[in-house]
Amino acid sequence: MADDQRKETGVVIKDGWSGYNLELFNYPEHYRGDLECVYIPHGVVMNRIECLARDILEDIGHEDMMVLCVLKGGYKFCSDLVESIKAQSRSANRRLTTRVEFIRLKSYLYQPDCELKTQLPQRTSAASVGVHWVIVTVRACVLTGYRNTSANIFLFYIPSQNDQSTEDLQIIGPDDLSVLKGKNVLIVEAIVDTGKTMRALLQHVDTFQPKMVRVAGLLVKRVPQGNPSELPDYVGFVIPNRFVVGYALDYNEYFRDLNHICVISETGKQKYKV
Ligand code: HPA
Ligand code: MG
Repeated sequence: MADDQRKETGVVIKDGWSGYNLELFNYPEHYRGDLECVYIPHGVVMNRIECLARDILEDIGHEDMMVLCVLKGGYKFCSDLVESIKAQSRSANRRLTTRVEFIRLKSYLYQPDCELKTQLPQRTSAASVGVHWVIVTVRACVLTGYRNTSANIFLFYIPSQNDQSTEDLQIIGPDDLSVLKGKNVLIVEAIVDTGKTMRALLQHVDTFQPKMVRVAGLLVKRVPQGNPSELPDYVGFVIPNRFVVGYALDYNEYFRDLNHICVISETGKQKYKV
């Protein structure tokens, strides 16, 4: 396989893969009965991450790196990836600095009657005033005309019960990502499916004029709406269209504490449904 192909495709898990028998693995007792199988064992995940770190170092390893971790699902992947990049860089006697910023993406329904605030309290960032301050996409904002002219970013206050999914991507996190200007940026995302979220995030990041942007996705899900030509630059695994949990991926906030990537069982879905 050519080098480029290796980087773009990742390890492909076929549709028929039914995973490993859970009883052959060690996993938290509190999830007994809640899982169907171990889909990707933790050790395999870690080894694959070392390879991604090696590829990333080969491409951008001589320069400083701004890492943008997409929460919450990406926290373990990001942490292990950055550690591996640093370890491999040290053993190669290279000079490399890494800085990690965090961002959270949500889909909310924009409701014209929701409470709107156009100014943040002085000297506070969107992240520090709580999760309900969001930076929303231009499409929703044009409806209101409320805008922060300096950054071309729109700030809304959205009540917590407003959780219907919609086309609009909201980016929760530092309102000012100007630290990305002129930098090599590595976006780290645990799972990519349709690619729509990633496209919107890339557009957002581009507004801060980075020197270069690359995306690392641990899992790429083969979904009907996905575009195979839009893979992240570094792909861990391409997986069938199944709902997986573990390694910080959740089902209603459960299973993040599971190290293996697993498929949830019907019992698990019932037990943790909201
Ligand atoms: N698991 C957890 N979160 C997700 C998934 C998944 O399979 N797909 C999109 N978000
Ligand atoms: Mg989730």
